[in-house]
Amino acid sequence: MVKKAICVILIVLCKTFSAKNFTLKQILILGRHNIKYPLSDELERYSSKPWPPKTSPQGVLTTRGAQLEGYMGEYFSEWFKEEHFLPEGCPDEDTVYVYANTKSRAKATARAFIDSMFKGCNVTVHHKDTIEPDPLFESGVRNTSEIYKEKILKEVNKKLGNNSKLMKTYSELNKILEIENSQICKQDGVCDLTKANDTVLYQIGKTVKVLGPLKIAHLVVNAFVMCYYEGMPIEDIAWGQITTPEKWNMLTEVTRLNADIRYGVIGDDVSKPLVRYIIQTFKDYDEMPKFMVLVGHDNNMVSVEYALGFQPIDLVNQFEKYPIGGKFVFQRWTDGESDFLKVEYVYPSWSQLRNGSKYSLESPPEKVVMRLKWCNTDEYGFCPWNEFVNKL
Ligand SMILES: *[C@@H]1O[C@H](CO)[C@@H](O)[C@H](O)[C@H]1NC(C)=O
Ligand SMILES: *[C@@H]1O[C@H](CO)[C@@H](O)[C@H](O)[C@H]1NC(C)=O
Ligand SMILES: *[C@@H]1O[C@H](CO)[C@@H](O)[C@H](O)[C@H]1NC(C)=O
Ligand SMILES: *[C@@H]1O[C@H](CO)[C@@H](O)[C@H](O)[C@H]1NC(C)=O
Ligand SMILES: *[C@@H]1O[C@H](CO)[C@@H](O)[C@H](O)[C@H]1NC(C)=O
Ligand SMILES: *[C@@H]1O[C@H](CO)[C@@H](O)[C@H](O)[C@H]1NC(C)=O
Repeated sequence: MVKKAICVILIVLCKTFSAKNFTLKQILILGRHNIKYPLSDELERYSSKPWPPKTSPQGVLTTRGAQLEGYMGEYFSEWFKEEHFLPEGCPDEDTVYVYANTKSRAKATARAFIDSMFKGCNVTVHHKDTIEPDPLFESGVRNTSEIYKEKILKEVNKKLGNNSKLMKTYSELNKILEIENSQICKQDGVCDLTKANDTVLYQIGKTVKVLGPLKIAHLVVNAFVMCYYEGMPIEDIAWGQITTPEKWNMLTEVTRLNADIRYGVIGDDVSKPLVRYIIQTFKDYDEMPKFMVLVGHDNNMVSVEYALGFQPIDLVNQFEKYPIGGKFVFQRWTDGESDFLKVEYVYPSWSQLRNGSKYSLESPPEKVVMRLKWCNTDEYGFCPWNEFVNKL
């Protein structure tokens, strides 16, 4: 009686958890690397104030990045146990397949994730044996028409110009950097980010590049964000000048805009080896490993998001749109009769990265359901597998 009453009230829950017994059959994760050491040698040129010492080569995964990625691996392992997704013990090559880009931070992220997930198992992380970027993870403009180029340049310039949010970010950065005392002011005449001009570089086969204030601001803010995630004392980040969430929100505008401009605007046209690979994997799902992990970069996530046609989403508890360690988790579920696709964006929140604490089923990383624009997705995020595969 009581049970019935609860079911009436929680009809939603009862429908999913008792009437339908969903089982997790297959998973493909597309993720980006975890915390890296700042990418630029140029930071010193942007401010004459002392920057944090360089502790490692630029662009590599930090020790803490490896640790936090390991926590992600442990979390997924707990989650999979709860769903009885994989057999106990070490997986064989036909069950688990891991593939990473050639950049050391991508390989190290994959290693940290999979080693924590399958402790003591030494699961292979596949990758190309070159220093060159793996073509699978490259994305750039394909459309060679002049009309397309003009359209893209117009759109990029529109996003850059007359942008009051961006101007606020720039003027804050002028102050933080004391840019008028910097080398870039003395040598290149860039003494005010709000007044300097951007140059947009458009090249077939490449992503759109923007040289000028956007690039400077992005490198600087990214370095501050990495320091924040590294757990550095607040007084040592940006010389103690970022003390409120509002200010972080204002500054990180440039990272959101950078992703949008450099990868989003050309999102419908980027060279699609990765997208094709993923689509082929879904089409051949019955021959594919039960669990696949691909580790690349934010541009890969943006191109897949645009190319597959997901509805826009807001990430809760994060200022960044493609936070470090974030993962698109493509899940194939079955109710015994039919299969369903569910896609979730699993990512660490802004404070989880700062805090560096472990995740668990009780305090999981953030999860947001992603919905394909063209598939009949129900309220729980399930879209019929046949519809998904047939329309791909
Ligand atoms: C759900 O399905 C699994 C596997 O098909 C089965 O082992 C389990 O007993 C089922 N649970 C319920 C409550 O029907
Ligand atoms: C892990 O596997 C690699 C390649 O299969 C092998 O070279 C290495 O020795 C193994 N390491 C351990 C600790 O078993
Ligand atoms: C290239 O872009 C133009 C202009 O947007 C469009 O008309 C054309 O169909 C595109 N070509 C390809 C191959 O996508
Ligand atoms: C700038 O953008 C605002 C709205 O975004 C618009 O109202 C205004 O006319 C624009 N100004 C210029 C000079 O384009
Ligand atoms: C930026 O571009 C505008 C318009 O093309 C020009 O008038 C201005 O001098 C340029 N500013 C700098 C700092 O080069
Ligand atoms: C931060 O860490 C503390 C102690 O480890 C924990 O109690 C708290 O819930 C964590 N906060 C977040 C947002 O993870």
